[in-house]
Amino acid sequence: MTGGPRGSRALYAILGDPVAHSLSPAIHNAAFSAAGRRARYVARRVSADECGELMRALAMGGGGGNVTVPHKERVVPFLDRRTRAVAATGACNTFWAQGGEVWGDNTDVEGFMGIWQSAVSPPADTSPVLVLGAGGAARAVLHALLHSAGASVILMWNRTASRAHRLLDELDDERLRHVHDWRATAPAVVVNTTSVGIRGRHAPIDLEALATPPHLVMDLVYGKSATPLCRQAGRLGIASVDGRGMLVLQAEASHARWFGQAPPRGVMGRALEAASRGLG
Ligand SMILES: NC(=O)c1ccc[n+]([C@@H]2O[C@H](COP(=O)([O-])OP(=O)(O)OC[C@H]3O[C@@H](n4cnc5c(N)ncnc54)[C@H](OP(=O)(O)O)[C@@H]3O)[C@@H](O)[C@H]2O)c1
Repeated sequence: MTGGPRGSRALYAILGDPVAHSLSPAIHNAAFSAAGRRARYVARRVSADECGELMRALAMGGGGGNVTVPHKERVVPFLDRRTRAVAATGACNTFWAQGGEVWGDNTDVEGFMGIWQSAVSPPADTSPVLVLGAGGAARAVLHALLHSAGASVILMWNRTASRAHRLLDELDDERLRHVHDWRATAPAVVVNTTSVGIRGRHAPIDLEALATPPHLVMDLVYGKSATPLCRQAGRLGIASVDGRGMLVLQAEASHARWFGQAPPRGVMGRALEAASRGLG
């Protein structure tokens, strides 16, 4: 599916704000190189007004890319074709062109599901799950929890309650409940889909302030070292995973959408480890 003028390298990009912390260029470029593809992948900090048109230009130019915080919902109207995951979540993280049309998918859904399956071994008690956030990533996580993980009770908290209510109305599922105060909850699993922790300083909640501590914390955020939420979990003896595993799984799925083939096995994971060590 890549094209571009003869001899040039197809351009792929991650579009978001902030993107300076992103490890996506490192892992995608490693996969391009290992697979012998004439392509390169860059990070582009873009405003809400620019992201849709830039996404289309990249795709129609023979490349593609990913969309990240905070634009995953905003780019959806700019797509010509939406996969089922985009239609169901209202969020897009992967785009490319095919047959003269711009396609969008949401590989965060399978990325999260892969991590959930490796972190939760049945018959572990996972109810209720407390999901923090109501943005693009929350949409993918909630879709996976409701339709693949079979979660029976999901509590949802967001800083802006009106955004959580809008999402709740859209999803219209009786297993999903909004909570005004996360402190009053006793979750078995906490999933952080907010961007809090991205700069390595603050955690989105204080795990000790929950009514009872969870068994497991899953943080979609990642960094050079453990995220603030995973550090808290560690201090309290709670098992935790950060966003690096999901990053690799969703990236492998994006690569497969762009080229119709999975990247060489293990390349992205190894590139992630090397790039994590080099993060400032
Ligand atoms: N590891 C992975 O593969 C992976 C995949 C997807 C996403 N992510 C990460 O998930 C995070 C969210 O991405 P997104 O696309 O969902 O972004 P988004 O659509 O912009 O949503 C951001 C979310 O974070 C909340 N938030 C932001 N600042 C906050 C603060 N100071 N206090 C409390 N809540 C705050 C927002 O709440 P409001 O509604 O109140 O603004 C919203 O719920 C990012 O860090 C992203 O890197 C990781």
